[in-house]
Amino acid sequence: MSNNDCGYERMCWTLIVLAALALSVAPGCNVERRKSDAELGLNPQQAAGRKIYDHDCDRCHEPYSTKGKKGPGLKGMFRNKYLRLSGLPANDERVSDIIRLGRNEMPAFSQTLSQRQIEDLMAYLHTL
Ligand code: HEC
Repeated sequence: MSNNDCGYERMCWTLIVLAALALSVAPGCNVERRKSDAELGLNPQQAAGRKIYDHDCDRCHEPYSTKGKKGPGLKGMFRNKYLRLSGLPANDERVSDIIRLGRNEMPAFSQTLSQRQIEDLMAYLHTL
């Protein structure tokens, strides 16, 4: 085998590996890409609620998936009659109670969020 063959062979393998990497990473990027507030069609109150969500809820709850993190995913939470995990009615009263008082492993937010912030957050949760 000449030096030349070896060089071509190595280049081929490098290309194959790069192509495989590109294929395996590209679809994942699309799924993970974060949509802007405008793309989600959020009004200013809902966008303010999304900021609070990102800061206080996102580490435990997926907003656009039903997949669980530390807590259940919240996608479509107000579209069902009952909350998926607890089975409580999916209405503003119950959900704001859960946020203010916490529940089992979930911390309470009545000390960290104002009434106004909870209202903004609720407006955003209704868009999920
Ligand atoms: C430290 C992790 C953590 C954080 C932060 C957190 N949660 Fe939770 N949340 C949980 C867990 C765990 C549960 C399940 C409680 C139970 O056992 O019923 C839960 C339950 C819920 C439920 C009821 C879901 C159901 O199907 O019954 C809602 C709604 C909810 N959380 C909303 C929020 C919102 C909104 C925030 C941000 C203000 C938030 N959570 C912050 C962990 C968290």
